Amino acid sequence: MDRYAVMGNPIQHSLSPHIHRLFAETSGQSLSYEAMLVAEDGFTRAVDAFFQSGGKGLNVTVPFKEQAWQMATKRSQRAELAGAVNTLSFVDNEICGENTDGVGLVRDILQNHQCQIKGKRILIVGAGGAVRGVLAPILAEEPAELVLANRTVSKAETLATHFQDHGKIQACGFELLDDRPFDLLINGSSASLSGQLPPLPSTCIGPYSGCYDMMYGAKQTVFNTWAAQQGAAKVMDGLGMLVEQAAEAFFIWRQLRPETGPVIKTIRNNL
Ligand code: ATR
Repeated sequence: MDRYAVMGNPIQHSLSPHIHRLFAETSGQSLSYEAMLVAEDGFTRAVDAFFQSGGKGLNVTVPFKEQAWQMATKRSQRAELAGAVNTLSFVDNEICGENTDGVGLVRDILQNHQCQIKGKRILIVGAGGAVRGVLAPILAEEPAELVLANRTVSKAETLATHFQDHGKIQACGFELLDDRPFDLLINGSSASLSGQLPPLPSTCIGPYSGCYDMMYGAKQTVFNTWAAQQGAAKVMDGLGMLVEQAAEAFFIWRQLRPETGPVIKTIRNNL
C-alpha cells in the first residue's frame, strides 16, 4: 500500500490524516497516511528515512516548511517564490517540493465561497511565512490592487519587493490604511492564535467586503467576529483552505482530484 504522512512538531492536532483518509475512501484509493512527530533537529533524517523505506509523499507543517524547501532537489515556481514547501514527493530519485497553501486558499475563495479576486481591491494582514506562502497564487488571479499591511512595516515592504514582478502589490502599516473599504480582506497574521485583533480601522470593511481568516477553529475567530460586527457581507475561515491545500497535494501524488465539499463539512462537524 502506498505510504504518505505529515511531519511536524507538534503534530497531534493535525487534521491531515483524517482529511487524506476521507479523500482516499471517497475516491476508492488504497493508501495509508500517518501523522509523524519529528524532533526539532531531526527533520532531514526523518524525511530521508521515510523516502528510503518506500514512502511516496509527505506533507510538512510547522516548523519544518523552510527546511523542506531546502531539502527539495526540485521545486515548482510557486514553491520557489513561497520560500517554503508543504508537500514533498519522491519521484525518480528526486525530492520534489511544492507549496499548495496558496492554491488551496484561492480555490476556497473562488470555488467554495464564490468570491472574486480578479479586478478586486484586496487587503492582506500579516507578512510572515503564512502570507508569503500564498502571495503568488493570489497575484496570479490579477487583483486590481493588493495591499499588504503588517505591524512591522519593513517585513511587509520586503515581501512586496520580493513579489513586485508578479502583480500590483504595495506595503503599509495599519495606521496608513485609507478610508476606502476593501473588497476582500484576508487575515494571514497569527494574531488570532492568541485571541488578538490586528488594529485595523473599521473603515476597511464595507457592506460588500468579504473577510477571510486563514485561521479556523470550533468557534468563530476573533477576526471574523470583529469583521461581522463591522458589517462585512461575508466571513470565511481557513478550514476550506486546509482541505483544498490537502486536495492539491493528493492530486500531485495520485493524479486524482478528490471532492472537497463533503470533506469540509465532515471535518467542520468534528472540530
Ligand atoms: P506564520 O508562519 O504564522 O506566518 P510568522 O512568520 O511568525 O508566523 O508571522 C506572524 C505574522 O503575524 C507576522 O506578520 C506578525 O506581525 P510582525 O511581523 O509585526 O511580528 C503577525 N502578528 C502576530 N501577532 C500579531 C498581533 N497581535 N497583531 C498584529 N499582527 C500580529
